[in-house]
Amino acid sequence: MTGRFDGRVALVTGAGSGIGAACAARLGAEGAFVGALDLRAAGAKATAAAIRAHGGTAMALTCDVSDEKQVEEAVAALVASFGRVDVLHANAAALDREVYGRDRELDTLDVGVWDRTMEVNLRGALLMVKHTVPVMPDGGAIVLMSSVSGLVGDTVHAAYGASKSALIGFTRYVATAYGARGVRCNAVAPALVMTPTAQRALTPSQLADKAAERLLPWPCTVDDVANLVAFLASDESRCITGQTLVIDSGTLAHRPQHAIQRSRDHP
Ligand SMILES: NC(=O)c1ccc[n+]([C@@H]2O[C@H](COP(=O)([O-])OP(=O)(O)OC[C@H]3O[C@@H](n4cnc5c(N)ncnc54)[C@H](O)[C@@H]3O)[C@@H](O)[C@H]2O)c1
Repeated sequence: MTGRFDGRVALVTGAGSGIGAACAARLGAEGAFVGALDLRAAGAKATAAAIRAHGGTAMALTCDVSDEKQVEEAVAALVASFGRVDVLHANAAALDREVYGRDRELDTLDVGVWDRTMEVNLRGALLMVKHTVPVMPDGGAIVLMSSVSGLVGDTVHAAYGASKSALIGFTRYVATAYGARGVRCNAVAPALVMTPTAQRALTPSQLADKAAERLLPWPCTVDDVANLVAFLASDESRCITGQTLVIDSGTLAHRPQHAIQRSRDHP
């Protein structure tokens, strides 16, 4: 590893599993002091311990990103240990069965599901940005987690998709508000990444449909997303801000006819 983050402090939300855990590990492996934040204390602790086991420096932070007081306390705890924040990756989302699992057809959507989705996915990102930018003394890099679901429609998951669309707009507002201070803000928008949560949420036939939609034969892994997040968090992307980068093995790059034709040709 190149040590692109030597001496820098990185805060990753939703770091207790899946993509967030991989991003925290990558930043830690490249020299960052990592705050591994998650709603689940066990997940945050496991990620921080894994980074330390590989020779890095990390602290676990237990916090609900939708709760402003908890966010303030978590950021303060990180700053008390490491003095500052240079990188924020706001990745946490409400993906549990009670929220994402009930984000189904619009005409029967429970408004509580909509509200909790927005609280965690969107307000959570706002709170993290609001409380980390003031402790970025020399500028910084923010990477928000959107999704291809924020770029196209579907018959289900309207709350999730709307929250991920809003994050694309919010990315531009954060980039605009803080650009003069040297704070960049970008978003990443993955298609299916085979985390345990994603695997649980999809049936075998839905997984097969998603494979048919990809132009490339391979799906994105958590490490592929971590590569992109680390790039956007590093000085290698110093002139990129306000952008959303799609990482989807070619899922959105074509009309659906491509997938339909291919499944006709190779049933
Ligand atoms: N996996 C995919 O296919 C996929 C595709 C596109 C976008 N994404 C996005 O990537 C991100 C991570 O997804 P994942 O698949 O790794 O999921 P995951 O369930 O493995 O990780 C999400 C983490 O967020 C934490 N979390 C949930 N609510 C929280 C809260 N209120 N405060 C703090 N932490 C909280 C969970 O405890 C969990 O550890 C999400 O934003 C998701 O929308 C995932």
